Amino acid sequence: MKPINLFDFEDAARERLSTLAYDYYRSGSFDEITLRDNHAAYDRIRLHHRVLRDISERDLSTELLGQRISMPILVAPTAFHELACPEGEVATTRAAGAAGTIMTLSTLSNRPIEEVLEAATGPVWFQLYVYRDREATRGLVERAQACGCSAILLTVDAQVWGRRERDVRNHFRLPAGLGVANLLPAGFDEVPATASDSWLAEYVISLFDPTLSWADLEWLASITDLPVLIKGIVHPDDARLAVEHGAHGIVVSNHGGRQLDTSIATIDALPAVVEAVNGRVPVLVDGGIRRGSDVLKALALGAQAVMLGRPILWGLAVDGEAGVRQVLEILEKEFDIAMALCGCVACDQVDRDLVVGAS
Ligand code: FNR
Ligand code: LAC
Repeated sequence: MKPINLFDFEDAARERLSTLAYDYYRSGSFDEITLRDNHAAYDRIRLHHRVLRDISERDLSTELLGQRISMPILVAPTAFHELACPEGEVATTRAAGAAGTIMTLSTLSNRPIEEVLEAATGPVWFQLYVYRDREATRGLVERAQACGCSAILLTVDAQVWGRRERDVRNHFRLPAGLGVANLLPAGFDEVPATASDSWLAEYVISLFDPTLSWADLEWLASITDLPVLIKGIVHPDDARLAVEHGAHGIVVSNHGGRQLDTSIATIDALPAVVEAVNGRVPVLVDGGIRRGSDVLKALALGAQAVMLGRPILWGLAVDGEAGVRQVLEILEKEFDIAMALCGCVACDQVDRDLVVGAS
């Protein structure tokens, strides 16, 4: 049967992916408590639906950093799309453009920035990992800007690697012919096969910069004119610091439960971050978003938009660009139903009062 929701897409993707690829995509770290809790936290939230409002004409579009997008749902940065589909990040980016939303390209993509931006039909943000080699990092930022990316999304929760035990057991490594395409010029496109368990863990431990700190935001701002958002914040004091250090936006994220296990579920972290930011910059949230009502709950608790990770990969594995399109369409339709049943015809009408027990 054709997948009709994002859970069906995961089931269908599992049929098509190698064990190594499915386990890598699906994994959380350690006991996967945060992985489970990210979505379970949405199920714990109840809504007060509203009635007797004319909901015949609805507009799901929103604006983010000056870009109008069709819906408050973006594609989160995820690595190694060629594990799911031979066209890799090119297919994902085309689908995001066709859906009228923003694609976020990972540093660890199998296709280089230049090729992806060449194929892009909509806005692309570049997700940045900071390497110990700052010249290599600078090169990534300069190329992203030169290719027409519209923002840099700095990931700050993965300078040390969360242990994904499925990857350890599978001795995860990229199949021959796949590499970290963006780092080919710097000579960091692969890691020696000596990796004891997860090749990716060895890659990160050896190459990512653990000294990354708030002072580096100034350095980053000095090497690009692009807006810089920070991804991986859950603590309100870090959100305050991010704004004070010039961040143009924040993504409340725990890396999809792949880093610190038992980290707070992102939807539970969101309200305090929104309060700390106090409207100064846009706040987005990712992690465990699988239903349209999850998107509405995130907006009601103060997010301007959400980012979608694994479901995009499931769509890619099932049917490439068309599969990603279907995943985005399904979530958009579910979000539209949730909006209508809450009596909302536009994103700016979604407020905290819709959440039961909202303080
Ligand atoms: C990720 N994520 C991630 N984040 C990032 O900043 N750079 C990256 O390269 C990756 N790579 C990556 C690969 C895979 C397979 C997954 C599942 C996740 C984290 C991602 O951007 C996002 O935070 C989570 O995936 C969101 O949670 P959901 O939607 O997957 O539940
Ligand atoms: C991951 C990286 C690539 O979570 O962010 O696998």
